Amino acid sequence: MANVTTKSDETFERAKAVIPGGISGHYGSFVRKNGPKFFSKSEGSRFWDVDGNEYIDLMCAYGPMVLGYNHPVVNEAALEQLKYGNTVSLASPVMVDLAETLVDMVDAADWAMFSKNGGDATAQSVLIARAATGRKKIVKIREGYHGVAAWMQEDRPGTTPADTEHVLEIPWNDLEAFQALIDQYPSDIACFISSAYEHSLFRDNALPAEGYWEGIEALCRKNGIVLIIDEVRTGFRINLRGANVEYGFTPDLICLGKAIANGFPLAALVGSDAMKDAAKEVYFTGTQFFNAAPMAAARATLLELQKIDGAQLMTEYGNTLNQGLVEVASSHGYDLISSGVPAMPYYRIESPSLKLHSAWVDHCVSRGLYLLAVHNNFVSTAHSEKDLIKILEIADDAFRALGPPSSKAITG
Ligand SMILES: Cc1ncc(COP(=O)(O)O)c(C=O)c1O
Repeated sequence: MANVTTKSDETFERAKAVIPGGISGHYGSFVRKNGPKFFSKSEGSRFWDVDGNEYIDLMCAYGPMVLGYNHPVVNEAALEQLKYGNTVSLASPVMVDLAETLVDMVDAADWAMFSKNGGDATAQSVLIARAATGRKKIVKIREGYHGVAAWMQEDRPGTTPADTEHVLEIPWNDLEAFQALIDQYPSDIACFISSAYEHSLFRDNALPAEGYWEGIEALCRKNGIVLIIDEVRTGFRINLRGANVEYGFTPDLICLGKAIANGFPLAALVGSDAMKDAAKEVYFTGTQFFNAAPMAAARATLLELQKIDGAQLMTEYGNTLNQGLVEVASSHGYDLISSGVPAMPYYRIESPSLKLHSAWVDHCVSRGLYLLAVHNNFVSTAHSEKDLIKILEIADDAFRALGPPSSKAITG
């Protein structure tokens, strides 16, 4: 029985009158025409929409929810800090505690600096790279997403060609393309910035090819290029010590955000001693960068993730979940492809287009499993065995609603 979402729809109509687009940004991009748009509460691995429908959440707020909504230890740490102050005319020592925690935890971190959103950390990272090298050009992966700063928004409304004049792009997993750019601009590339693996929208996600990161690292070192890993999305879901540890290389800077504080607003840039002077020189700040409660929440989140070995737990859970979903799909005659890392699975039903997959996802959502069709999903440490059983039941029912491949109404 499909969920009714009347109150969500009514609230959306009200929103459109007073907020451009009703819901802006990525939440707006993925808004479902006939689906939940506003939540009323959340707990653990689940949220409830304003109509009272319950969902197991496999989007985890696009990543921040890593230990479960309303996590008692994280909330307690934030509330305790609020008793003493949040935004005050001086910095809080919790900022130093948090920087020490990150330096202890993340192999490539000799220091840490804090901001609010992942896009702050990536913007700060390229400024530091330019300051450190005295060079202009940024090399990124084609379609790689690093936030909404103007240099990231080629040809989008409100930008000018000058904004992206010094941004060069190469395909994922293509060392030769990187070498070609180095040959073309031998002394003008400040940095290479990339996610740890390719987690694009609308297509299967791609892991690094054998030797790829070693090759990138070698080219950066040889040519004085700052190596920046954007772990805003992958942070703490691949390896708590940094995804680079998993893939066998050492970056100069790592951008962190999303999961760092289990949903409290915080991002961080961590880096090596070699980058410390440039990091000190670059002017990068914001009124809210020094909020102490999100920092206390972040520290509690990181310590909890370490205590329970969160990345390993999510990887194991993701593997079981992905295998279960593939088997359910197969029992209905469908080929479900799961790509990316286990804790951030991108799903796609093999078909000439994404329509069939989107229809299956719609059936899942209307039955209480919150997924996105064209974006990677996320697991958290709050997802349980009970959730797994329910997820597979919903998936099974959703395939039944789709009908067998031969008689399906939508043919790709
Ligand atoms: C890889 C990556 N980098 C940067 C960002 C920007 O982070 P934020 O939206 O917190 O500014 C995102 C957000 O999705 C991301 O996935």
